[in-house]
Order: sequence, then structure tokens, then C-alpha cells
Amino acid sequence: MLHKTLQRQLIKAFGSQQRIPKDLYSLFQTISDTYFHADEDRDLIERSLEISSRELENLNRKLQSEGELIEKEVEKRTQELSAERNKLSIILSGIVDAVIAVDLERKIILFNKAAENVTGYKVAQVIDKPIDDVIKLFDNATQISSETFCPMPQNNFEGIIYKKQGLKMLGLKQQQTYVDLLTGQIQEGHVFNLGCILTLHNISKEMQLEEMKLDFVSMAAHELRTPLTAINGYLSVFIEESRGTFTEDQKMFLDRITIATHQLVALVENLLNVSRIERGAFTVKLEKIDWLQYVKRVVEQFEERAKQKHLTLTLNTPSTLLPPVMADPLRISEVVSNLLSNAVTYTPGSGSVTVWFEKTANEVITHIQDTGEGIPPEALPHLFTKFFRVSGKLEQGSKGTGLGLYISKEIVTMHNGRIWAESTFKKGSTFSFALPAVKSD
Ligand SMILES: Nc1ncnc2c1ncn2[C@@H]1O[C@H](COP(=O)(O)OP(=O)(O)O)[C@@H](O)[C@H]1O
Ligand SMILES: [Mg+2]
Repeated sequence: MLHKTLQRQLIKAFGSQQRIPKDLYSLFQTISDTYFHADEDRDLIERSLEISSRELENLNRKLQSEGELIEKEVEKRTQELSAERNKLSIILSGIVDAVIAVDLERKIILFNKAAENVTGYKVAQVIDKPIDDVIKLFDNATQISSETFCPMPQNNFEGIIYKKQGLKMLGLKQQQTYVDLLTGQIQEGHVFNLGCILTLHNISKEMQLEEMKLDFVSMAAHELRTPLTAINGYLSVFIEESRGTFTEDQKMFLDRITIATHQLVALVENLLNVSRIERGAFTVKLEKIDWLQYVKRVVEQFEERAKQKHLTLTLNTPSTLLPPVMADPLRISEVVSNLLSNAVTYTPGSGSVTVWFEKTANEVITHIQDTGEGIPPEALPHLFTKFFRVSGKLEQGSKGTGLGLYISKEIVTMHNGRIWAESTFKKGSTFSFALPAVKSD
């Protein structure tokens, strides 16, 4: 179609539409069509540009406001996180026990106030440091490696992975404390690089008190020993020299005094032994011992007591040769005597006490069996603890201390042996201990 303006111009030039030459008219028509479409295109482009820029503007505005929202959210979350962290560190600082967390390489990532107090280090000095550089833990004299007290997480385990009481700990400048240690692990730990969490409970004060108690017991026992030795000595000399002049009653009184004095001496010796054991001053000197001959001699010392109580005391000689054992003759005689003394004491008249042996691949086991009162099952687990005595008529009748079995167990343990008891209440008991045998070569 011819553009209206062009058509008007052509009519004006040629007078009327009919006068316009056909060729010219169609040429102008082509030109007009081209321009018309171009106009249309321009229009379209302009319009779409206009729309796009408007959309862009909108979009930009939207983006801006969303950006602001995100920023606000991030800020809020950061605040929440730091508040959470503050809360956590406040809570941790309020805990009286030291809490130390380490990462998967055992480097410290958390160290609370109590940890500072117990180790002497400040938190800034230890963060990111290997735990081994900060604390050293000892079980008696042996150092425990961090691989032991803080093993790395395995099999998604959650809970307590190490627990030990009464450990010595060296912190800053070898500052020494005593602690109970508990190591925990959480299942998702490895996800955020958390190895384990140590909780250390400071028991230095309790240990100090315990030490004072031991010092007192040891001092008192030492002080008692001297006058007791004098009483014992003079008493036996007096009885020996004047035996013929005593009336029956006087003899009975003097016998009772003698028994009581012996009991006191035994008590004092036991107390001294306990305090030696507890302070680690009780040692054994091992030597090769012909075990059967050795036990025979100890048993012989009880024959008189057994006869007085009308007890049959027997030692069963093993059918095959017993290998020698490694033992401290003085200490181990205390164990055999304690067990024999108990068997004789806690077996009523006309019963029997039998000693017999058993040989295993690398041990010699000695059994001391009696037909006595036996031990109630509920008492069995406590037999080898300090001052434990089975309550009942025997306890009231006999004047023991409850230390014999405790000391015996400690002595056997020092020989790398084992000690145990089996008993049927009212029927009898068997106390047994195993000592490592000397291998024949
Ligand atoms: N052979 C035994 N038969 C029955 N009870 C026993 C025997 N041996 C030990 N006991 C019980 O175990 C307790 C602890 O023994 P022990 O440590 O030797 O202390 P004590 O003999 O001084 O009481 C005894 O008081 C007794 O109740
Ligand atoms: Mg005893």
C-alpha cells in the first residue's frame, strides 16, 4: 500500500491519481511498503526495548530488595550463632570440671575455664595445639598416650570411650594435679572435625586428704610397734621365768594377754602393710622357689592351731612334679599364712582344711579348701577389699581386721598372679591363687 503522505504528494504533482504513471506508482508503492515495514519494525523494537528496560528495572528493584532481605537474614543468623556460641562458652565456663575438646588430629578446639585452672594454661595458649603438648597423664608411673585416652572416632560410636580414676596430670610448668578422666565421643563428630571430648574432675584435694590419712595410719602404726614389741618381749620372758608359780586362773589370764598382744602386733603390721601398698612402697623381690616344700613348711606352722581346734589339716602332694615358681618368699608366705589362718579360724571344730595344687600350662595354682561356715554369695565380690568382714556371728566371735585378704590380693597381683574364692554358704570355702610357673628349659 502507498504511504498516505506519498500518495498525497504524487496527486499534487500529477493533478489526480489517474494521471500518475503506472510504473512510477508501483515503484513508489514498493518504496512505501519497505519504509512502512521498517517503521513498523522500529516501532516494534522500540516498544520491546521499552518493555525490556521496564522489566529490567523491575527485576533490579526486586533483586535489590531480595538482596537486602538476605543480608538482614545473614546478619540475624550471625547474631544468633554468636549468641549461641557465647551461651555455650558461658555454660562451659560454669562447669566445675575441665572440659577439653580436640579435633580429629587431637588438636585442642575447646578449653573451658576449669581446664585453664587445672592445667595452668590460658585458652589462647592452647587452641590448635596438640593435646599431648598441653597435658600429660600418668597412671601410677606409666604415662598414658593420647592415643589411649582419646582414640579417634570409629564405627560411628557414641558414648564414653575411656574412663580412668586417680590419674596424675602434669600441666603448665609441670603443675601436678590428680584427676578422674572421662573421654566421650559423639556420633556426628567427624562431620565437623570433632575428635573427642575430655572431662577432667580434679581430685587433688581428696588425694591430699587420703595421703594425710595414710600418713596418720602409718605414723600411728609405727609409734605403736615399739611399745608393743616391748610388751610382747617382757611378757614372754615373765611367763617363761615364773610359769611354775602361776595359779590356773593366772595362767588363763596370761594366755589371753599373750593372744591379745599377738593380735595387736598383727593388726599393726597389717596397717603398716596397707599404708605401704597404698603409697606404692610395697615391693617384691622375686626368686625361684621350690613351691611344694615351701608351702609344706608354712602348713606345718598351723598344725598346732588346727590340733587345738580338732581340725584335720592335710596337704595333698601332687601326683606329678610341680614346677618351681617365681616369688618373694617373705611376702608370699604372708598370703599362704593369711589363707590358712582364715581357713582354721572360720572352720568350726572337727572340720577339715586341705591344701592341694593344680598345674596348668604356665601357672601353679594353690587351693586352700575348708569345710567351714562358708561365705554368703552377696559377700563374695567384696572379700578382697580393705576392711571387709562378713557380718554375722563369726565376725563378732573372731577378732580379725578385714585386711588379710586385701593384702593377700595385692601381694599376689605383684607376683603377676591371680587370687579368687569359691564358697557354698554353710558348707565351706576354697581360696585359690595362681602364680606364674618357672618354665623348665
Ligand atoms: N575360709 C573362710 N571361710 C569363711 N569366711 C571367710 C574365710 N576367709 C575369709 N572369710 C571372710 O572374709 C573376711 C575377710 O577376711 P580377712 O581379709 O582375712 O580379714 P579377717 O580375717 O581379719 O577378718 C573375714 O572376716 C571372713 O568373714
Ligand atoms: Mg584373716
